[in-house]
Amino acid sequence: MTRVFSGIQPSGVPTLGNYLGAIRNWVPLQDQAEAIYCVVDLHAITVWQDPAELTRQTREMAAALIACGLDPQRCILFVQSHVRAHAELAWIFNCVARLGWLNRMTQFKDKAGKNQEASSAGLYVYPNLMAADILTYHATKVPVGDDQKQHLELANDIAQKFNHDYGVDFFPTIEPLIQGVAARVMSLRDGTKKMSKSDPSDQSRINLTDDADTIALKIRRAKTDAEPLPDHMAGLENRPEARNLVGILAGITNTLPENVLREHGGQGFGAFKGTLADALVAHLGPIAAEMKRLLDDPAALDAALHVGAERARAIAEPICARAREIVGFLPAK
Ligand code: TYM
Repeated sequence: MTRVFSGIQPSGVPTLGNYLGAIRNWVPLQDQAEAIYCVVDLHAITVWQDPAELTRQTREMAAALIACGLDPQRCILFVQSHVRAHAELAWIFNCVARLGWLNRMTQFKDKAGKNQEASSAGLYVYPNLMAADILTYHATKVPVGDDQKQHLELANDIAQKFNHDYGVDFFPTIEPLIQGVAARVMSLRDGTKKMSKSDPSDQSRINLTDDADTIALKIRRAKTDAEPLPDHMAGLENRPEARNLVGILAGITNTLPENVLREHGGQGFGAFKGTLADALVAHLGPIAAEMKRLLDDPAALDAALHVGAERARAIAEPICARAREIVGFLPAK
């Protein structure tokens, strides 16, 4: 059976971008593959996280994933730091990956900004940990949004170099699954920037916890241009904000942008934004309510995550142990 792995950082409330680009695609894979999903707290601390907030956000992220349709009975859902194999294999991969490869990572450049010298070393080797996340399960399919593609290519380079250097055929090739019309949801304030949970402006994103009024207000305030909507795709060229809103409605109503334009072409943004806000509220309202219910019982949530970690360890540890052996570490007692 195909093994699927994906992860999400507990660095804030999950956004509509996380939902449409990734989480929603994780749900059906539970029934089509052996699906392993992880809240990646080790990745989150590559930038500063307040400890109490990190604990709260980790639970909140787990609740969000379950509320979106992940079922801890049908998938393995756990917290990254609960399975030590991730950190251990990441160290080995730190010694396999080349500085030249990491220097090409656009996400590091974006996140580090102008002051790279002040970034944590963890942020720099972040993609090596991602490779370890996936490969310590020998997972071969990785459902992600478009922004993770470069990291997955690096993971394949690492796997290949490990196999080559040690003369083994141990780590498999991984394949990104980048699906749907909303693989890249953009900021509501700037159609050329990705919607992100760590953007300083809350107005730039829809959070899965936003209530109906907040969603309506954010959509009403979303940046647009002065033209009405076109009735065909070519008319969206050079109109990143219009393209983004059309993509979001297509994503949330499970249709194609072409169909959205067929129905709404010629409309001004006033009317279109009303339709979009209604669709978002109808879809996200029940998710927020379920999240709240789950967070009312943190002990049950933690227990489900502990079971998930145990199941994850059972797969990850033997693979990590074999990697240790291949590298030539003296067997531990
Ligand atoms: P993270 O936490 O930034 O995002 C989680 C998932 O959401 C997708 N995503 C988006 N998709 C469309 N539009 C957007 N605006 C948008 N923003 C985020 C991301 O592509 C991602 O799939 N490094 C990863 C987490 C990770 C991981 C892994 C993923 C750690 N280890 C191993 C896959 C496999 C990250 O920061 O995701």
